[in-house]
Amino acid sequence: TILILDFGSQFSHLIARRIRELGIYCELLACNIDIKKELKFKPKGIILSGGPYSVYEAGSPHVDPAVWDLKVPVLGICYGLQEIAHTMGGKVQKCDKREYGKAEIDILGHSKLFEGMSHPTVWMSHGDSLSAAPTGFQVIAKTSSSPFVAVENTEKQIYGIQFHPEVTHTPEGTILIKNFVSGICGIKSGGWSMNSFIDTEIERIRTIVGPTAEVIGAVSGGVDSTVAAKLLNMAIGDRFHAIMVDNGVMRLNECRDASKELRDKLGINLTVVDAADLFLGKLKGVTDPEQKRKIIGNTFIHVFEAEAAKLEADVEKKGRKIEFLLQGTLYPDVIESVSFKGPSATIKTHHNVGGLLANMKLKLIEPLRELFKDEVRALGELLKIDSNLIWRHPFPGPGIAIRVLGEVTPEQVRIAREADYIYIEEIKKAGLYRKISQAYAALLPVKAVGVMGDHRTYEQVIALRAVETKDFMTADWFEFPYDVLKTISSRIINEVKGVNRCVYDISSKPPATIEWE
Ligand code: XMP
Repeated sequence: TILILDFGSQFSHLIARRIRELGIYCELLACNIDIKKELKFKPKGIILSGGPYSVYEAGSPHVDPAVWDLKVPVLGICYGLQEIAHTMGGKVQKCDKREYGKAEIDILGHSKLFEGMSHPTVWMSHGDSLSAAPTGFQVIAKTSSSPFVAVENTEKQIYGIQFHPEVTHTPEGTILIKNFVSGICGIKSGGWSMNSFIDTEIERIRTIVGPTAEVIGAVSGGVDSTVAAKLLNMAIGDRFHAIMVDNGVMRLNECRDASKELRDKLGINLTVVDAADLFLGKLKGVTDPEQKRKIIGNTFIHVFEAEAAKLEADVEKKGRKIEFLLQGTLYPDVIESVSFKGPSATIKTHHNVGGLLANMKLKLIEPLRELFKDEVRALGELLKIDSNLIWRHPFPGPGIAIRVLGEVTPEQVRIAREADYIYIEEIKKAGLYRKISQAYAALLPVKAVGVMGDHRTYEQVIALRAVETKDFMTADWFEFPYDVLKTISSRIINEVKGVNRCVYDISSKPPATIEWE
């Protein structure tokens, strides 16, 4: 295992990504953990990430000095390099000019770190740099403006680089990372794979749950909850109970199709609760987006708990108990919760429904907590889950309720659903579904005049949204070929009763958001 100590850089999770891509297991923890008390495994190598601080300033974060006693290879990246220099007799100073963007490095000598690299372009993002190398270190790369871009001490196996090998703008960054984790730390790539993950995870679930306890979990038809449910089912069979709540604002046919896949194909012990009328009743007259979210979140918890209580009664009749709640937490959420948050770190807003655990006295089980989204998809493929489900665009918990602007009535939901269905169908036909990160149709609360045959119409407007994004924090609108838009528009206007106009949303995020509400 490689340990990544995080100093709060926006790229830290990418270091983990790159190492995982090599088929090597790694874990990211906050930079200032107490090594003796909090580190539960013995790493074969340590990477110190970048961070937004200056090492020489009071209050800047530093690693526990016990890190240096572990006697394993260390690679410092950006702030990590500066931390090494600061600790070992080097000198760190503010640059005259912040260096941000591509730079060309001169590689000096034959460091193991740069083995097999021929491309000198790297990505820089820093305001401080070294003005003297740490004691006992060799300089192994420089740029025209910076004489200490990379340093090493081969005896102590400590390496430091000013640039970021983890971002794709450093074309040979992966080679460098591989040189460190495989060449220097001696970990073979390929040891961590999805097949080995399935076996060890099933064993782990069985050990945690034990021979008699039972588990419940909510499923939505999304890839995360489906994969998590399938793993539980493989580990403990019908002692896992999945609950799907039909909240009346899922996509057209979604509840039907997803329950078929889960129950009939994957053999999961599933209960579908039809609560559409309850949700729509509570949403009546409500127009404020945050209010809609709250109502749907709270009603969901209420319905889920009521269903769980029924299941609990059945389980108790067999002399057993429900003791665990399944959650499809992914590694980025784990990173978010364990990573280092100094005073200057930005705080992301999360939109999770959450709140379930607060009331129910259950222990959590999170089989996906070590995986990135694309790893979950790869796992889904191995588990033979339908590829439509695996590649489905993300869908917000409050669903179509935040895509029907203004009041959510059954009729408005019908219009939004039908339009969305046609839109997605045409996107798939055009072979564009996987290129787009998220697409949906929103129903605007305005009426427009049109003409159909000899008749004047006065009907509503559908806004089409499609974005490309890596992390959903920023997004660009998708550049559709015009003929695809033409087909989508004419099909929606012809086939969906109540719509006489279609518009395409050309707003990026920021300043807009992906959802309209
Ligand atoms: P925004 O609209 O904030 O969306 O740009 C970013 C991502 O989050 C999803 N989203 C939600 N997901 N509950 C959810 O589970 C919500 O209330 C919610 N609001 C937005 C959105 O679909 C996009 O993927």
